[in-house]
Amino acid sequence: MSEHMKLGAFLMPTGHHIAGWRHPRAAADAGIDIDHMVRLAQTAERGLFDLVFFEDAAGLREGRVDLAAQAARSVGFEPISLLAALAAVTSRVGLVATASTSYNEPYALARAFATVDLVSNGRAGWNLVTSASEIEAANFGAQGLRAHRDRYARAGEFADVVRQLWDPATRNATVHHRGESFAVEQGLGFPASPQGAPVMVQAGASDVGRDLAARTADVVFVATQTFEAAKAFRDDLRARTSAHGRDPDAIKIMPGMSPVVVESRAEAEDKFAELQALIPDDVGLALLASYLATDALNGLPLDGPLPDLKSTEGMQSRQQLVIDQSRRDGLSIRQVAQHFAGARGHWRLVGTPSDVADQLEEWFVGGAADGFNVMPAYFPDELDIFVDRVVPELQRRGLFRSNYASDTLRGNLGLPVA
Ligand SMILES: Cc1cc2nc3c(=O)[nH]c(=O)nc-3n(C[C@H](O)[C@H](O)[C@H](O)COP(=O)(O)O)c2cc1C
Repeated sequence: MSEHMKLGAFLMPTGHHIAGWRHPRAAADAGIDIDHMVRLAQTAERGLFDLVFFEDAAGLREGRVDLAAQAARSVGFEPISLLAALAAVTSRVGLVATASTSYNEPYALARAFATVDLVSNGRAGWNLVTSASEIEAANFGAQGLRAHRDRYARAGEFADVVRQLWDPATRNATVHHRGESFAVEQGLGFPASPQGAPVMVQAGASDVGRDLAARTADVVFVATQTFEAAKAFRDDLRARTSAHGRDPDAIKIMPGMSPVVVESRAEAEDKFAELQALIPDDVGLALLASYLATDALNGLPLDGPLPDLKSTEGMQSRQQLVIDQSRRDGLSIRQVAQHFAGARGHWRLVGTPSDVADQLEEWFVGGAADGFNVMPAYFPDELDIFVDRVVPELQRRGLFRSNYASDTLRGNLGLPVA
């Protein structure tokens, strides 16, 4: 266990709840509003967060049941460029952006992040993704989405070349890499930042994804819902890291968590219910229909009960879970749809600042997490509340820093200079 927990602010323009973009306090064009992004990054820095994090997909999402929500969330700035702008208006918080190994070349990407690292005086980080969507693939040539195995083979070579280009010991040396996917001749030719090299972040969940993280990553993001799943993931990643000859304490595992925080539990539940009620009926229903693998809900009254459904060839355990819960709690079709759309696979914490701190403490002290990737339900309010109410509670318990320990991202994460 590290001495203090690490905190990342996962900045989705409008928020992480599926209907967060519809909240009256969220702005639908937030992804291309630089003032909004500056404010969020400065709020995270005020809260002494280790880092702000931006996801990315180089293409608009479509064809999913949550079309409207995804569209509002996915129109956003190219994140490496955004980091450079945020570097100028912050001084301590780490700046992490996602970039794909499928649609970049290692030299260009290494140069872009090394630039942000110098511009920010040692605060840059790269979240390596292989990109799994056809929609992105269609924007980068005609070959379509590569197979999972091929994506990770390319990602492994990509990561190795980037690390070589960033290595302070070899920055000016000739690289002379000739590999399966890439050929790179020269080094970057400019100096290392105060942290040596940008931080490597990864979030792959597959066997080969975990292995790449264990070999190359400093920070790993993960979506887990229970203490047991998070602990098993962290134990597995640490064991794999040791197997690669690395110190397991040199890899920080940060599960995502989506908080809805108010002073009293009843108010927190009300606030969450308000968000749930914003889920468009067609979005909730389409998700529910896909969970139930049925079109038998079409045309039924939304405030009536779920009909009796024939067992399907689809995800039978998921179908039974939905039916059992709706019968047990007497939920209408609309209520069931909201319930399942709102959860969406994230660890959701609804409660008082002390409730939220209790849960974070349990995971951190119990060895299920080195820190957390905080995913506010909607912006800007839920990040403000976390910073103003939850952070002081964590500090009071000695679980979180009261001052930045360092000027660099590596320094704050407790990682040695690269
Ligand atoms: C917190 C978090 C953020 C992620 N951000 C992105 C992203 O911005 N772009 C992307 O293509 N995938 C993103 N992913 C997906 C993962 O990088 C990875 O592709 C996915 O978990 C599948 O992993 P696998 O291919 O190893 O099974 C993210 C995952 C998590 C948990």
